Amino acid sequence: MPWNLNTTHAAAGDLALLVGLRHKHFIFPLLPGGTYHTHRGILSHDDLIGKPWGSPVFSHQGAPFFMLQPSLADLLVDLKRSTQIMYPKDIGFILTSMSIGPGQTVLEAGTGSGSMTVALAYAVGPQGRVVTYEKRPEFQNLARKNLVRLGLDSRVVFNLGDIGDSIAETNVDACFLDLPNPWDYVQKVRLALKPGGFFCNLVPTVNQVERLIYGMRREHFAFIEVCELLLRYYKPEPTRLRPTDRMVAHTGFLTFGRRIESSDDERARILLEEEGVALEEENVDPKGDDESID
Ligand SMILES: C[S@@+](CC[C@H](N)C(=O)[O-])C[C@H]1O[C@@H](n2cnc3c(N)ncnc32)[C@H](O)[C@@H]1O
Repeated sequence: MPWNLNTTHAAAGDLALLVGLRHKHFIFPLLPGGTYHTHRGILSHDDLIGKPWGSPVFSHQGAPFFMLQPSLADLLVDLKRSTQIMYPKDIGFILTSMSIGPGQTVLEAGTGSGSMTVALAYAVGPQGRVVTYEKRPEFQNLARKNLVRLGLDSRVVFNLGDIGDSIAETNVDACFLDLPNPWDYVQKVRLALKPGGFFCNLVPTVNQVERLIYGMRREHFAFIEVCELLLRYYKPEPTRLRPTDRMVAHTGFLTFGRRIESSDDERARILLEEEGVALEEENVDPKGDDESID
């Protein structure tokens, strides 16, 4: 696997991260006999192979770089992309909230550039599976390339098509949707999830969240939570520690829920009502099914 965090020294075939002055960084595979060209000079791969990770290395002009194994976050941010992608800030919370772990099966749409797919494939491990749907072939091709580069493609089933037409999976542990009209697919997602399974969605506007909540209540999802995550970095200067001047103010709103089983038992009614899942008039989306938001 080209991305192997279990080593102490750089080996041929490994992905390496070089970090130079002002944190200018590059990620590339180490190939015997190869060279890497930067605006601060050329590095010979043979000079890097065999060195301990974390070593300072130098271009032919003497420019210094640290050589490290890229983290998952480094790889995601560096990913080649043709779409908006999921960022580490949101991904980390999603993975823990849905308890994504080794051996699980996760359903995803759309694949986009494959940022979330990479993170999911990493989390489910070699025994797990990510089943991902993308309707545009050019995006699917890019995502596949991104997964192959990291040696994670064998954990992913790539499906080309509209998720609304084609979900065949059942009993999946979790489902993540990153597409403009998630409310249209909640029913299919419910059928694909195992009882009690986890659902998460990211959309950029509250208008979309509103429609999704109606859909989730209608399809008996409970424990619905909506949040957004704000991440603020600090300048690591001990004598004048303060936030950095700029931050990413908005990526998207996360909506979580779990598939629960409905019940006619009167004793369950209060519980279902508290979660908003009982089938009542006010749970019907007043905007109807025809309007779409892109
Ligand atoms: C914002 S991108 C997803 C980005 C992805 N999560 C990532 O991290 O790279 C949304 C993707 O959903 C795809 N898409 C939209 N509606 C879809 C549908 N009904 N079925 C499958 N894919 C869909 C789009 O073509 C687009 O590639």
